[in-house]
Amino acid sequence: MKAVMCPKYGDASVLCIADVPLPEVGPQQIRVKVVASSVTKADTMMRQGTPWYARLALGLRRPKHGITGTGFSGVVEALGADVSNVNIGDVKVGDEVFGESGLTFSTNAEYVIVEQDAVILKKPSFLSHEEACVMCDGPLTSFNFLHNIAKLKPSQRILINGASGSLGSAAVQLAKAHGAYVIAVCSQSNHAWMYELGADECVDYRQQDLALLNQQVDVIYDTVGNLKFKQMQSVLADKGLFMSPVLSMNLLWHMMRTRSSQSKRAAFSATGMISPSQLKKDLKTLLSIYEEKTLQNYIDCRFDLKDASKAHDYVDSNRKKGSVVLLN
Ligand SMILES: NC(=O)c1ccc[n+]([C@@H]2O[C@H](COP(=O)([O-])OP(=O)(O)OC[C@H]3O[C@@H](n4cnc5c(N)ncnc54)[C@H](OP(=O)(O)O)[C@@H]3O)[C@@H](O)[C@H]2O)c1
Repeated sequence: MKAVMCPKYGDASVLCIADVPLPEVGPQQIRVKVVASSVTKADTMMRQGTPWYARLALGLRRPKHGITGTGFSGVVEALGADVSNVNIGDVKVGDEVFGESGLTFSTNAEYVIVEQDAVILKKPSFLSHEEACVMCDGPLTSFNFLHNIAKLKPSQRILINGASGSLGSAAVQLAKAHGAYVIAVCSQSNHAWMYELGADECVDYRQQDLALLNQQVDVIYDTVGNLKFKQMQSVLADKGLFMSPVLSMNLLWHMMRTRSSQSKRAAFSATGMISPSQLKKDLKTLLSIYEEKTLQNYIDCRFDLKDASKAHDYVDSNRKKGSVVLLN
């Protein structure tokens, strides 16, 4: 089968397309014929081997798992002999499924092997394969931040930094669907799109210093990771929450310092550290919101599998809107 390989850490040019043997399906595994797979910001950081401490898990000198990609959507092609309904429900050969492979990667290929207890669900008909393969990136991560961490209330005001990215565009829609007041921060050129997604106000970070914003919000969701908890104090309401999916020593310090604070707090979470069973539960709730509120995952660019390095280059530009996918 064809697969996108990352033989060493580096820029997008290290990626190559290779012919590799069709992976065998083990007793507790599922083989999926991939229709669409994602190229995320996290995938490009894994390709670069950054931050350096991630190499402890990814491989010290080179990536341990040669084939790239974590999000997938496709069709079940083979089920291992011991795969149980307890894990995958009534999924059968021929069913459309989607999910993420986690630290075994390997979704940017014609076939992927997924453990039965990994994040894999039947694909609902209201999601295309393109939309489904990115579901575990922006939408699931932002659902975790908005609903599990911030416990966002309909009456609250939220400022979303990086609102036009994958996490941001999902967050704008989810926060609005929940009834919150949404302030979207991104480039001016994306403001019209933000209003379409439901934003109440838009701010251009190139023209406005966010720390000097004449606003008070209950939640700041910094998907870019370039804001500082301390600098944003005047924008954060009393008992407000500053949260980011981008880990930094500064955020970690304020998170520990404010852990039991009754006043303003800081938070970080890594979706990849949450158990697959909890993520599957969250995904089911998320799908019900998507169906009821007719939310959509915006796909900025589609590339052929063989053009994976172009897809990585585009994600590296930091200008993508929503998500980028590879099609088989
Ligand atoms: N913790 C977790 O579990 C977790 C999970 C998934 C991802 N992540 C991380 O979350 C981060 C965001 O991922 P993503 O996929 O949403 O990113 P992304 O889609 O690549 O973000 C691109 C967007 O960022 C905006 N942007 C760039 N510079 C900006 C700035 N200075 N201020 C405000 N907006 C700016 C751009 O908006 P304009 O073009 O409009 O300027 C662009 O639309 C990444 O670092 C990723 O690794 C964490």
